[in-house]
Amino acid sequence: MNRLKGRENLDRIPVAVIGATGAVGQRFVQLLKSHPWFELIIVAASGKSAGKRYKDTVNWGLDEKMPEDIGEKKIEEINSKTFKDEGIELVFSALPANIAKEVELDLVSNGFYVFSNASAYRMGKDVPLLIADVNGDHLGLVDLQREAGKGYIVTNPNCTVTGLATGLKPLDREFGVRSVVVTTYQALSGAGYPGVPSLDIIGNIIPYIPNEEEKVEEECKKILGKLTVEGVEPSPFYVFASCARVPVRDGHLESVLVELEEDAVVDEVKKVLRDYDGLESRTLPTAPKKPIIVTEDESRPQPLFDIYSGSPKRAKGMSVTVGRIKRIHDKIRFFLLVHNTIRGAAGCSIMNAELAKIEGYL
Ligand SMILES: NC(=O)c1ccc[n+]([C@@H]2O[C@H](COP(=O)([O-])OP(=O)(O)OC[C@H]3O[C@@H](n4cnc5c(N)ncnc54)[C@H](OP(=O)(O)O)[C@@H]3O)[C@@H](O)[C@H]2O)c1
Repeated sequence: MNRLKGRENLDRIPVAVIGATGAVGQRFVQLLKSHPWFELIIVAASGKSAGKRYKDTVNWGLDEKMPEDIGEKKIEEINSKTFKDEGIELVFSALPANIAKEVELDLVSNGFYVFSNASAYRMGKDVPLLIADVNGDHLGLVDLQREAGKGYIVTNPNCTVTGLATGLKPLDREFGVRSVVVTTYQALSGAGYPGVPSLDIIGNIIPYIPNEEEKVEEECKKILGKLTVEGVEPSPFYVFASCARVPVRDGHLESVLVELEEDAVVDEVKKVLRDYDGLESRTLPTAPKKPIIVTEDESRPQPLFDIYSGSPKRAKGMSVTVGRIKRIHDKIRFFLLVHNTIRGAAGCSIMNAELAKIEGYL
């Protein structure tokens, strides 16, 4: 059946979400609802879910109701031919990394534009590790991937890194970053669904998340690195991360200690963070007006109150909140909060695809 006939608005780009039943997949479904440029046509997942109705299969855990039309959709298997028959070229991926490795490569060889949350290709030399309002210029790396008949892949970073890189970008641009020490308090939804067993985490903190500290260190240096004709030259600064899982539903809190190349006082740091406009006033539907919100409240940011920071409405959860900025000897310390499945995952991927659209890559 060709669903083009039933589509609401033929000007919108038809898209598929793969891994649509998981924690990030559900956010894609929520954020793509009534998107002005993209229309969600296919929800796909594993063979275990394929063939069932979305609403009968998914353990919907989000703050808004499941979109009714998507709830009625049949979950598909990931299949290039079915996607092509439905007119799809753009695919958002929320697959586990080990599955993404083969599936995303296959989609790219079949001509699809893949915007992925998985870590499988993040560090690829010709693959953008992109946060549109932080390192939008890195999108140009896809030119190195272009081959006739093939698509390309654009990745977004690990959820913790997305917040950290956003906070560091204006500081690096203005003062230069020499070193970063970050300690994280990461939410349960960061481990996917169903994630960490409840008996391991209720009333507890686990000071270990497999491979997380390594990802924070290497991805941050790539995002804030310099684009060259051969790829990205990683930032020379040093990053040391300590990551813990805490019994919080959504939102990663990070305590960041930064050594700057140029001395700066707290008020200068606040001003630089507040004034940051990563897209230089270009407008994307999912981009927040202010990527960074600075709070003066000594008890914030807190996941309970601040995870949905960001405006306009479509960019709710797309701003990071920074607070408790202090100068300690020659270093600056602050707390930062990022919504891990919105700015840290699905929202970032959608914002990246929006940038690709206005830059002529879709
Ligand atoms: N959670 C976060 O905050 C976050 C943030 C940034 C990036 N990420 C990354 O995003 C990806 C998704 O994370 P998640 O937290 O959403 O994981 P999740 O809740 O475990 O969801 C995984 C999804 O992948 C599907 N899947 C699993 N095996 C498959 C297969 N063999 N073929 C097709 N589909 C398959 C699952 O479908 P079934 O239901 O049918 O099994 C489900 O839809 C991961 O790579 C993760 O590292 C996550």
